[in-house]
Amino acid sequence: MTTQTVLQARGLSKRYGHVVAMADCDFDLRAGEILGVIGDNGAGKSTLIKALTGALVPDTGVIHLNGEPVSFRNPLEARRAGIETVYQELGVAPALEVSQNLFLGREQRRPGLRGSLFRQLDKPAMRRASAEHMADLGIRIQSIRQRVETLSGGQRQAVAVARVAAWATRLVVMDEPTAALGVRETHQVLDLILRVRDRGLPVVLISHDMPNVFQVADRIHIHRLGRRVALVNTGDVTMDDAVAVMTGARSPADVPQVQVSTPDEDASSPKGTDHGER
Ligand SMILES: Nc1ncnc2c1ncn2[C@@H]1O[C@H](COP(=O)(O)OP(=O)(O)OP(=O)(O)O)[C@@H](O)[C@H]1O
Ligand SMILES: [Mg+2]
Repeated sequence: MTTQTVLQARGLSKRYGHVVAMADCDFDLRAGEILGVIGDNGAGKSTLIKALTGALVPDTGVIHLNGEPVSFRNPLEARRAGIETVYQELGVAPALEVSQNLFLGREQRRPGLRGSLFRQLDKPAMRRASAEHMADLGIRIQSIRQRVETLSGGQRQAVAVARVAAWATRLVVMDEPTAALGVRETHQVLDLILRVRDRGLPVVLISHDMPNVFQVADRIHIHRLGRRVALVNTGDVTMDDAVAVMTGARSPADVPQVQVSTPDEDASSPKGTDHGER
């Protein structure tokens, strides 16, 4: 693994009874990149993402974050390690204000006894920080005090993205962030994803929308039947080729692939990497 590799997984698998959701799956995310993840319905993309972000524990396999072995038992452990995720099922609280959504689970208390003893929230401070953060990301909404249920679908998704971008220190994962959006809103969210990357956070973008993936991804992870069948540079393949590999119409050997190291070749890899086997 080069120092460039932020998140790497080897040999991940997960079964549900007779259903093999993930089978000997590899994964590589580099610093500074948007990695598109594509695959048919049921190919196992969400299962992979859940395994990488602590939402499920894989049956086998190893995961390294910045060269260190990790085995998250729940999403909170992944968040503490700097990984923030927008899951396929959108995670905003509609009845709460934008700033309350951004600080959900991480509320700031007021200074002094009012905060420590009486647990009073510092709403003005959270609103100020939220407004700054949203402006920073170029997200325009009328008021930071607006309840999320009064926002458009695109604005809601922007709030979800803004929240993960605010707290992630290593990487951001987004599972179908534009699935329910119109064309204009989709482009706003894609612009936002580009800005998140340009601010230094690598992004994993799972999407069925090939033009979107080809527009923003630096590399593309092609997933089929529970595993990565190819990792390609976006500029090296046509959309037709990527879809053909994804559906099995073409062999992965037919497209130019990115070479990645195996843990064995990796001098910096710590010993005893069988922690994921349980
Ligand atoms: N909790 C579960 N119990 C049983 N089977 C599951 C479970 N979660 C996923 N699966 C199965 O594992 C396979 C992979 O599912 P997964 O949700 O990862 O696919 P996906 O690539 O994300 O699909 P989509 O593109 O539709 O989101 C599917 O066959 C699915 O039915
Ligand atoms: Mg999915």
